[in-house]
Amino acid sequence: MSYADEQRREKWLARVPPIGTHLCALDEVGQPGAKGFTFGEGRERFDMFVVRTEKECLAYVNACPHAFTPLETFTDKFLTRKKDQILCTTHGALFNLDDGFCTSGPCAGKSLVTIPIEIVGDQIVIALG
Ligand code: FES
Repeated sequence: MSYADEQRREKWLARVPPIGTHLCALDEVGQPGAKGFTFGEGRERFDMFVVRTEKECLAYVNACPHAFTPLETFTDKFLTRKKDQILCTTHGALFNLDDGFCTSGPCAGKSLVTIPIEIVGDQIVIALG
């Protein structure tokens, strides 16, 4: 990871909501599916999304490692039509659901920044990093 990428990652992680912050109920996310969340406004705005697979839930910063724009064009449409990969709609990069690794596109070999989450009861919350 380059120094600039590391700096950007640290800046985003500093904006992750506090541990225990409620995101949504588990059944609000398709399986497989994804759902986006926004916290704060202006320069402090922070965008993230949750991906739910058959086995687990994961969360990522909603910023493509190519041009650092949000991945989705339409609300909560983060996945490919087959729902087997994450798609950046800006230039078509594809990412693994389970680790955010970019397998194809202009940022191939880079990864989305992961955010720790956990399931408490039937709710998804921010977890300890
Ligand atoms: S911004 Fe995501 S592929 Fe270019």
